[in-house]
Amino acid sequence: MQSLTWLRREHDAIRSGLELLETFAAKLRHDESVVAADVEAVLAFLVDVGERCHCVREERHLFPLLERRGSSRDSRRITVLLVEHGAAREVLRTLTHLAASLATDADSRRAFAHTVEEAVPMLRNHLDKEERALYKLAETVLTPEDDATLAREFGLHDRGELGEAGRAPHVLALAELAARYGVEWRVS
Ligand SMILES: [Fe+2]
Ligand SMILES: [Fe+2]
Repeated sequence: MQSLTWLRREHDAIRSGLELLETFAAKLRHDESVVAADVEAVLAFLVDVGERCHCVREERHLFPLLERRGSSRDSRRITVLLVEHGAAREVLRTLTHLAASLATDADSRRAFAHTVEEAVPMLRNHLDKEERALYKLAETVLTPEDDATLAREFGLHDRGELGEAGRAPHVLALAELAARYGVEWRVS
């Protein structure tokens, strides 16, 4: 299904973004400097594509449709995923705030590394859980017409958030960073 392929590809890009954050955190733990523009570019990807596009598309379009088509157990799963979206937003807010003072403040460097180390396993788990439980369910209950509707809604949402260029410049920038830092690029 086109809409689910779209979401899975984004998960793979987000996974590379999380690995980049871990790379920066490891450098900070070893008292090495990090390039502020690179940290900001990864956070910009995670906020603009991961949060404003991917999470919001799930919340506004995919989850409500699955709640209508799935069981009450699926509704409970969606409730948990929404709580995790809230936690992810909080993490991104914290990291964006700390990133502004990495060059000048040792406490910010420690807090940034600590936040990344704590949050990344939770964020990875969220992506895995969605793919294992929810996207698999979607493949069994959604019709081709649902898929076409979701794909159309996803496209409209992204144009509203990111303009005509859409995600492509963000994804290219992240792929370039992944290559530069030796982080696996999983996007097919
Ligand atoms: Fe999600
Ligand atoms: Fe997701």
